Amino acid sequence: MAEKKDGPDLDAAYALETPEDNVRLYADWADTYDSGFAVQMDYILPQQVAGVFARCYAGKGPVLDVGAGTGLVAEALGSGLVIDALDISAEMLAMAREKRLYRDCFEGDLTAGLELPAGAYDAVISSGTFTHGHLGPDAIDPLLAVAAPGALFVLSVNDAHYEGQGFAAKMAALGGRITGLRHEIVDIYGAGADPAHAQDKARVLVFRVRDIS
Ligand SMILES: C[S@@+](CC[C@H](N)C(=O)[O-])C[C@H]1O[C@@H](n2cnc3c(N)ncnc32)[C@H](O)[C@@H]1O
Repeated sequence: MAEKKDGPDLDAAYALETPEDNVRLYADWADTYDSGFAVQMDYILPQQVAGVFARCYAGKGPVLDVGAGTGLVAEALGSGLVIDALDISAEMLAMAREKRLYRDCFEGDLTAGLELPAGAYDAVISSGTFTHGHLGPDAIDPLLAVAAPGALFVLSVNDAHYEGQGFAAKMAALGGRITGLRHEIVDIYGAGADPAHAQDKARVLVFRVRDIS
């Protein structure tokens, strides 16, 4: 895994290959993720995803924030919702916990499945975690298992990753289990971003778990 001498950065994150790579990189990145990366890259994806979520969801939760990291999605959602955090990185979750925005913070590798109760969540949200070097389309399966019938999903997928990793086929294969699938294309970074990534887009997938009860 390539790391610049001044610490992890977006290119190193995109080059990760395994969950263990993610654990190592985010252990080093947690302290500076908000004040360094998010500020310097004008990282606006958590606000974009929270904005889509707020326009679709009128409930109170519980909401599962997948790959919650330091908690930027919960910050963007504001108060009034019960939100749990899931992340593979203990160090990122420690930063999230300090913000006191989550009911519970669960450390776990989504690629290894989830030990959360079936049907526990009324909504699932994720920003920046379905991307290069992180999670592929099969990580949606364990999330469906912990979602209640009718639960809302709002998941960002890096648009190039979506094209390259078979998300379209996955969403088609889920056809009978989900309903109302649509997407919005949003900017990941604002005007202050490094020009190399200023045009990066995410596809925010919006759907509900089909209620067959
Ligand atoms: C780019 S950060 C996004 C954090 C936050 N959602 C945001 O938008 O700022 C990706 C997060 O996914 C987590 N992650 C990566 N692989 C994971 C896995 N297999 N299971 C759970 N979390 C994972 C990382 O630890 C990291 O906190």
